[in-house]
Amino acid sequence: MKDVTPHQMEELWEEDLLERYPEEGKPAKAKEEFRNYDDPARDTVREFYRVNHIHQTYDFVMAKEKEFLKFDKREMKLWDAVEFLNTLVDDSDPDTDLDQTQHLLQTSEAIRADGHPDWFVLTGFLHDLGKVLCLFGEPQWCVVGDTFPVGCKHSDKIVYPEFFKDNADTYNERFNTKYGVYEPNCGLDNVHLSWGHDEYIYQIMKDYLPQEGLAMLRYHSFYSQHRENAYEHLMNKDDHKLFEWVNKFNPYDLYSKAATPPNVKELRPYYEDLASKYLPDTLKF
Ligand SMILES: [Fe+2]
Ligand SMILES: [Fe+2]
Repeated sequence: MKDVTPHQMEELWEEDLLERYPEEGKPAKAKEEFRNYDDPARDTVREFYRVNHIHQTYDFVMAKEKEFLKFDKREMKLWDAVEFLNTLVDDSDPDTDLDQTQHLLQTSEAIRADGHPDWFVLTGFLHDLGKVLCLFGEPQWCVVGDTFPVGCKHSDKIVYPEFFKDNADTYNERFNTKYGVYEPNCGLDNVHLSWGHDEYIYQIMKDYLPQEGLAMLRYHSFYSQHRENAYEHLMNKDDHKLFEWVNKFNPYDLYSKAATPPNVKELRPYYEDLASKYLPDTLKF
């Protein structure tokens, strides 16, 4: 996996998501090639999840939360953070058609075009900003990829569930029961999710966006729930309401590929304005 750049890994992950969750009425992207197990892209995704599933234990997540939720890494204005994230782009990658900023804008512009509230547009624009973790030296397997609860039994609805056989929590009786360390329907607020860009940006934005937007941030890669409903036993009534919004958000993230890439320069003032309505002058990462 070391010869794959973070940006390439992300593209592979997204391709894999489109394969798993094709857009309604559209054929899965490059299905034959991608399902082929000899395909190096497929192998890379498998290897990515193998490593992810081994290392994302309850204790690992606790340690990452402790390390990063101090927010002592860097303080940036929103646009500086956006440009910082964009340094993830690998110019040598011929397959890359969209950079990070363009993905954010494409998502948020599609939300805006559908007439949704401005906080929803802003949420779309912010949703992947947590990927700056890569630039703080974090390996890809704890930045991107599907997220899932830790501290309780791994659902077989999580992608590549077989790799949890090498996760230490699978053999720890504190963590390997249906509820593990949690109570029935305790609410996802009380549940720790595998560490990645979703949790990180959610925590950064926690005081600034409406709950619905925060849910979109925190749960946008939680496919085993928002697509597979595998963790209803941990959710409370509020979560169910919030997941209606997570489900509204998901297609914009996954399927909003505009014919022409967004014009970053032209759109910047609108987003800086919008950010000033909800966010402080600088953000703590
Ligand atoms: Fe994301
Ligand atoms: Fe995204």
